[in-house]
Amino acid sequence: MIHLNGEFMPIEQARISVLDRGFIFGDGVYEVIPSYSRRPFRLPEHLARLQASLDAIGIANPHPAAKWTELVTKIVAGNPWEDQSVYLQVTRGVAKRDHTFPKGLKPTVFLMASELVTPSAELMKTGAAAIVLPDFRWLRCDIKSTSLLGNCMLRTQAAEAGCAEAILVRDGELTEASASNVFVVKNGTVLAPPKSHLILPGITYDVVLEILRANELPHEVRPVKESELRSADEVWITSSSREVLPVTTLDGKPVGPGRPGPVGLRVHALYQQYKAQVMRAPVHA
Ligand SMILES: Cc1ncc(COP(=O)(O)O)c(C=O)c1O
Repeated sequence: MIHLNGEFMPIEQARISVLDRGFIFGDGVYEVIPSYSRRPFRLPEHLARLQASLDAIGIANPHPAAKWTELVTKIVAGNPWEDQSVYLQVTRGVAKRDHTFPKGLKPTVFLMASELVTPSAELMKTGAAAIVLPDFRWLRCDIKSTSLLGNCMLRTQAAEAGCAEAILVRDGELTEASASNVFVVKNGTVLAPPKSHLILPGITYDVVLEILRANELPHEVRPVKESELRSADEVWITSSSREVLPVTTLDGKPVGPGRPGPVGLRVHALYQQYKAQVMRAPVHA
C-alpha cells in the first residue's frame, strides 16, 4: 500500500501527471526512514531534515509533523514487513514546463515502503568492497533532492566494478559516498568529514557521532584528506539501510588487514544496542 496526495492505494493504481515537476525537473526532495518492528526510527530527525530540504528549495511543507507521523504510521501498518524502509517524497507539484519555480502549486506527496534489509552477518564478516571516484556532483549535496543522477551514475560505476559503494573525493578531500556517509579510522581515532554543503547530513552519521561521544571513543570531526582515506586502518559507510558497514577493500586494495576492524565492529554493536533500546522505549506522542 502506498500514499499519494491524501489517498492510500495499491501502487499499481497510483497516477501522477507527466507535468509533475518531480518528473520533468527532479524538482523535489525525499526521505528514507527505517522502521524496526513497525516503529519508525528517529522520525523527528528525519522530519527536521525534510523541513531543511524543503526550505532550501522553497517548497512550503505540505504537512505538520503530526500529520507526517500519521502518514508514516499508516504506511508501516499497511505493509507486510516487520522491518521497513519508508520512502517519502514531496515534489513542487504540477505546472506548465518552465524552469522558474512557479508559485502557489500544490505539492505532490508520495509515500511507499519496502522491506528493510540490513547487511547480513556474512557481509559483516567480510566487509564490503568500494571504489574511490571524483565527486562530480553539484555543490548542494546537503539537500536531500530527488535529482540523483550524479549519485546513480557513481553507484552504477561502483556496481560495474563489482563494488557495493563509490566513495567520493573532491579537491583532495573525502566527501561521502553515493548513498552513504563515510568514516575512517587511523591509529585508533575515528575521523568524520564535517557537515557542509558537500555532504548529506546523515541521520545515521549523527547516531554514530552520538555513540562515539557517549562511549568516549576518540574521534575528530574535521576534513579528511584523500591520502588519509587511502591509508586508513578502517573505513566504514553509514546509512539508514547499511547501518555501520565496514569497507575492507578500496580500489581492489585491502583496507588495513583487509578485514573489518575492531572500532567499526564495536560501533556496529553499539548501534545495534542503541536501536534495540530505542525500540523498547515506551511510545509517546
Ligand atoms: C548521498 C547520501 N549520503 C548519506 C546518506 C546517509 O543518510 P542516512 O543516514 O540519513 O540514511 C544517504 C542516504 O541515503 C545518501 O543518499
